[in-house]
Amino acid sequence: MFIIAEFVFTVNLKINIYMQHYREVNLLSNPLKPGALEELESLKNNYSTQIMDVRKYLNPKLIYELMRLKLDIKGMSYFGAPREKNYRTLIHADLEKHPGEDDFKISHVVLNWDITPGTSTFEWWDTKHAKVIHPGENSGPLTYRVLEYVERDNRVIPDYFELLETYDIKMGQPFIARSGIPHSVHYVAETDYRRCVSLRFRSNPTWDEALEIFKPYFIPSVV
Ligand SMILES: [Fe+2]
Repeated sequence: MFIIAEFVFTVNLKINIYMQHYREVNLLSNPLKPGALEELESLKNNYSTQIMDVRKYLNPKLIYELMRLKLDIKGMSYFGAPREKNYRTLIHADLEKHPGEDDFKISHVVLNWDITPGTSTFEWWDTKHAKVIHPGENSGPLTYRVLEYVERDNRVIPDYFELLETYDIKMGQPFIARSGIPHSVHYVAETDYRRCVSLRFRSNPTWDEALEIFKPYFIPSVV
């Protein structure tokens, strides 16, 4: 009896330790409309291609499903270097800026799909209060951006950074990710490049709010 109790405790503990920063969710495996991929590819000229007119590219069923959760899509990023099979983003925390507002706010949550085959790992870091490079130097035309880089020394990761958690991304498996704390993505594409569709929401829910909203969609992970 004691052994059974100990086993249950161990499993619960593992679940608490891991999966702090992401959840796989049961939504469409392909977020795009037929033909959208070719159009998006024609726009690609840097790592982050930002799209505001999401209805032009996203499957209407997905938009409807998210509206049912009171999640109005604010914008979409079409991530991936134009032609890089092996790439690591800078460690950064996501920020967003609303029209008419002066200050950037933390952007807490993204809903992501890798839509190309390969090995992609999402990484979360404790950067020990590393120097923050403020928004502005990476500005673009849109109202939300990825800007708050915490280190920029040619992607060399300082020894004092602590890796908190990793998630091995699966092609066609949507997941929510905590984007308001330092994170990076490292990928090795099986094709000429990696592509990821990433959505943000107008209400900018906190991570805890997102966990509540998406709870009915969680896919249990084997730990
Ligand atoms: Fe990010």
